[in-house]
Amino acid sequence: MKTILVIDDDDRIKTLCEKRLGKFGYNVIVADGESDILQILELNGIDLVLLDQIMPGKDGLEVMEMIKHGSHLPVIMMTAFGSIDLAITFMQSGGVDFVEKPIDFDILNIKIQKEILAAERLKKEILDRKHAERQLLQAQKMEALGRLAGGISHDFGNILSVIMGNAIMALEHLPSGHPAVVHLSQIDISGKHATTLIKQILAFNYQKNDQAQSIQIQPIIDEVFTYVKATLPSNVKINRNICASANKVLAIESKIHQVILNLCTNAIEAIENDYGTITMNCRVVSATDIDHAIISDITSKKYVELAIKDTGKGIDVATLEHIFEPYFTTKKQAGGTGWGLFIIHEIIRECGGAVNVESQPGKGSTFRVYIPCINQPRKRENQTCRYPKLEMENTFF
Ligand SMILES: Nc1ncnc2c1ncn2[C@@H]1O[C@H](COP(=O)(O)OP(=O)(O)OP(=O)(O)O)[C@@H](O)[C@H]1O
Ligand SMILES: [Mg+2]
Repeated sequence: MKTILVIDDDDRIKTLCEKRLGKFGYNVIVADGESDILQILELNGIDLVLLDQIMPGKDGLEVMEMIKHGSHLPVIMMTAFGSIDLAITFMQSGGVDFVEKPIDFDILNIKIQKEILAAERLKKEILDRKHAERQLLQAQKMEALGRLAGGISHDFGNILSVIMGNAIMALEHLPSGHPAVVHLSQIDISGKHATTLIKQILAFNYQKNDQAQSIQIQPIIDEVFTYVKATLPSNVKINRNICASANKVLAIESKIHQVILNLCTNAIEAIENDYGTITMNCRVVSATDIDHAIISDITSKKYVELAIKDTGKGIDVATLEHIFEPYFTTKKQAGGTGWGLFIIHEIIRECGGAVNVESQPGKGSTFRVYIPCINQPRKRENQTCRYPKLEMENTFF
């Protein structure tokens, strides 16, 4: 129910508005020029203000200035018959419309509906724009972080080679029972971990120039499904729903493979030692069905939606803020690099898509990946998978 604030010093007008607008289904709140208008606005969730032009306390224009200060609330002025000049001054000051007294309530109702609708649209546009700005900032931040990390990794790789090379040479000079052997071996092991991490970062940066091709997502899901199923711990089950659509996307097959595998790996890790299920879902959705908050820059009529749902431990709000940042991990002890989701985010962004997550602590998580389709569904094609057999060395975890 929409709420309308009627500001008028004449009690008869207020009562009339209450009755007539009430009949149209509005919740009507009344006030006069002496009332604390700002407090009324703050407490009552007002959708539109109906304002008298001339009042003994503050006059209409003064009240409107106060209302409009920092808000987009629509204000319709009630003018005395023949005060068109004043009405025009009012509209120039930010009012949206005016009605003449005696009020024709049928016309007023149409104006109210129109203005509330316009205000809602404006509010949504402002919210969408703010969201798009935030997304752009986040994307720029991610890109800068990625570039920085890539540069550092390159130099760091060289330094690491020297450290590890010297540790190995020192090991060769020592007899096997020497107490320093344990410490030097530890340098070697940790150096290898660091090398793996650097390889991931560098590979990610170098692969950026690979050519995208027109591909189907389902065969890649099938491939990952078969691999993950064969390697799952016994406490985790995996299900898959087949996508019947033949829509294709423009993407690099190995990268989409990496996306799905990274999401599955996270899902398995989130289930930890409990019993749990992972569900892989793929479908084609119309762009109009996707929330604008997820993809602000819609480029296709249809998108492939890939969802990986798990019944794991879920993610709290504070953690959710950071999960797509490189190096952000809650698995430091287990050797997590914090690169998995950042890579997913970047790969999907390069495809013109988006990644969305829905999660609550204790209630599992659903990661949804949207990739724009490049064609309309055609006759179903042979879906044999062209993807090469998965090799662990080529895979990011
Ligand atoms: N399905 C999930 N359920 C719960 N938390 C998740 C899930 N996926 C990601 N996270 C959280 O997001 C963080 C970042 O994930 P990301 O894949 O980027 O790195 P990681 O898994 O910690 O490390 P790596 O991928 O290198 O093993 C994780 O540490 C975890 O806290
Ligand atoms: Mg991960």
